[in-house]
Amino acid sequence: MKSLGSYPKVRLRRNRKTEWSRRLVSENNLSTNDLIWPIFIREGKRIREPIDSMPGVYRYSLDQIEKLVERAINKKIPMIALFPYTPLSKKNINGTEALNKNNLVCKALRIIKKKFNQIGIMCDVALDPYTSHGHDGILKNNYVDNDKTVRILIKQSLLQAKMGCDVIAPSDMMDGRIGLIRKALDKNGFQSVQILSYAVKYASNFYGPFRDAVGSKKSLKGDKKNYQMDFTNSKESLREVAMDISEGADFVMVKPGMPYLDIIKIIKDNFKIPVFAYQVSGEYSLIKKGINDKILDKDAIYESLISFKRAGANAIVTYFADEIAGRLK
Ligand code: PBG
Repeated sequence: MKSLGSYPKVRLRRNRKTEWSRRLVSENNLSTNDLIWPIFIREGKRIREPIDSMPGVYRYSLDQIEKLVERAINKKIPMIALFPYTPLSKKNINGTEALNKNNLVCKALRIIKKKFNQIGIMCDVALDPYTSHGHDGILKNNYVDNDKTVRILIKQSLLQAKMGCDVIAPSDMMDGRIGLIRKALDKNGFQSVQILSYAVKYASNFYGPFRDAVGSKKSLKGDKKNYQMDFTNSKESLREVAMDISEGADFVMVKPGMPYLDIIKIIKDNFKIPVFAYQVSGEYSLIKKGINDKILDKDAIYESLISFKRAGANAIVTYFADEIAGRLK
């Protein structure tokens, strides 16, 4: 950067003096177009169940879903993400409930798609909401077997596409699944179903509240370090993204969010593909509890979301979507 001259001729505070001037020189902004709203669904009727570890976030029974989608549409949120709270009685070692066309996600897709087509619906592809051990795939000698898992993920993707899912989002971190899912979708007439790859997903300590929300926390045996990424690494994320782009991903996700802004930036600097960021459950709960306890002002939410835009994210999955969309003009 060229020298910008010096004080007293240069006074950087001049541009900050008035509100209109600050607006004029503002480099980034957040709009409702940037938001993806994750929604937890469960069985039952007329239920809005609080989640202890995520204040202000609820599990909703399926009869609430139309109302929620309507709210998202009214607030101009372009996409929602569905996450199921599967009853323990329906979990087993192979997560077979994932392939049940009457599971929670499939039912929700049918309800939504019967009525709405002006909003995107994204569904995770992974087995952890359905396995009794809480891992994202099929275990073989206590190790998640890549190729066996991918064969099931392909079926899960096809089922979701059939039910009307717009964006298939593999969050499992198996190798090679994007290409194989793309191939299967194309072969079955789903050429325009999009794939959002959780290409860069770290084995993070910030997922705890989510695992509580989908009911996999208590059951999870061990950790996910032999498939999710090591958080000491950054260049490895470039290989993950390159691989998924070559296999046909339409967008890539970086997850978690705020502790990984450096990763969003290097991906944005190296590839032209749309990059989404996931402000995960642990990040949400820390900020939300800080606000509830009056340690933080509620504008901390906006500030946290702008940090993703500054780093280069095109959109953000955030549990604050509903709340912040109401405040954005
Ligand atoms: C499951 C999945 C996880 C999240 C989204 N999809 C948890 C995990 O990998 O254990 C985390 C989201 C969050 O913490 O908000 N594959």
